[in-house]
Amino acid sequence: MIEKFKSNAQAIEAADQFLYGNHARIPIVMDRGEGCYVYDLDNNKYLDFVGGIAVNGLGHCHPAIVKALEERTKTILHCSNYYYNEPAIQVAKMIVENSCFDKVMYANSGAEANEGQIKLARKYAVDHGHPERHTIISMVKSFHGRTLATATATGQTAVHDPRYFSPLPEGFKYAEFNNLESVKEQLTDDVCAILTEPIQGEGGVRPATKEFLQGLRDLCDERGILLMFDEVQVGSGRTGKLFAYQNYGVEPDICSMAKALGSGVPIGAVCARGDAAKTLTPGTHGSTFAGGPLACALAEATLDTLLHGGVLEHATEVGEYFRKQLGTLKEKYPESVKEIRGMGMINGVELNLDNGSPIVEKCFEKKVLINCTAGNVLRFIPPLVASKEECDLVVSAIDESMAELELK
Ligand SMILES: Cc1ncc(COP(=O)(O)O)c(C=O)c1O
Repeated sequence: MIEKFKSNAQAIEAADQFLYGNHARIPIVMDRGEGCYVYDLDNNKYLDFVGGIAVNGLGHCHPAIVKALEERTKTILHCSNYYYNEPAIQVAKMIVENSCFDKVMYANSGAEANEGQIKLARKYAVDHGHPERHTIISMVKSFHGRTLATATATGQTAVHDPRYFSPLPEGFKYAEFNNLESVKEQLTDDVCAILTEPIQGEGGVRPATKEFLQGLRDLCDERGILLMFDEVQVGSGRTGKLFAYQNYGVEPDICSMAKALGSGVPIGAVCARGDAAKTLTPGTHGSTFAGGPLACALAEATLDTLLHGGVLEHATEVGEYFRKQLGTLKEKYPESVKEIRGMGMINGVELNLDNGSPIVEKCFEKKVLINCTAGNVLRFIPPLVASKEECDLVVSAIDESMAELELK
């Protein structure tokens, strides 16, 4: 019989003994969630504007997800990719019918989906008579994952620190985000693809400009190379559209999804169009778990709710309201708040401070969960279903926290 932990303290004592310490964690143990709220083992209730780092798009225990999960446990959880399964086909159909893409290939995480994109881009170049093209240009301050290739594609030295992880995979170089000239400077004959997030998430909630994305599209078209978007964080409805690229009217050749697609079960996807949708053939890429019926059944329920349950429209409206309310902080603390940025329900407050963590900690004391990325950007990636009232609670918590910290 497993004896359940009865408190945060008791569970964390065991965690310190048994869990590997590769994550810096806040010392609470999440026990359950409902909508935009989570509860820890001591029964404290928190307003959750971290949302599992943009995974809990529909909030916690959304009825459509609970139903899909319950039904799935009574049918089939896994069957291998030697066979088809219905949810995998339904999810691909929904994605294709609501985007520019022609085909969908599955993965188990964001990093794995991006690995799939990298492999696809390199084989595409070879198939099109350019075996010399193997290099991917990605952007400074990007984030694409923690596997060796995606960590190297990530334009932050800390993520692929060569002192620890050498030899790093070859074939990656970096350009400045939102700077087309910088991309052109890197565009040598060995480049097979350009990879970018339409909005940098971990890099500090930085939306690309339309001119930048259109410029990348034109460069790729001129050269016959692929434009790859990483929509792991900003896809699946986060910006108020199914894909973030749909806010810009600039279509990539391939695009990764993950995070909120499965509402909490691990799933990733590579979406591809045109010739890029024909590149990976049997034997060139695959995975035991990818596209399995369990993950896809939850993705099916997620997409159905996003597309037909009014969630995208809600995210657009509430996101706009939230940014407006965050703007009051800039008026009240003009020396400390530099800029409010975002789209739909990914929003950020860039601070004129070296470190935003004291504000995050103060909010935590007030039972409001937010996070700080890129050192000084408060980031909000709550459930898309969060209400205006819940946004107000978060703005008040930050306001009180900044006042207590005597920020100006
Ligand atoms: C834009 C982006 N790409 C890739 C990843 C990696 O996804 P995963 O942690 O599921 O491997 C993340 C995770 O934060 C992300 O934000």
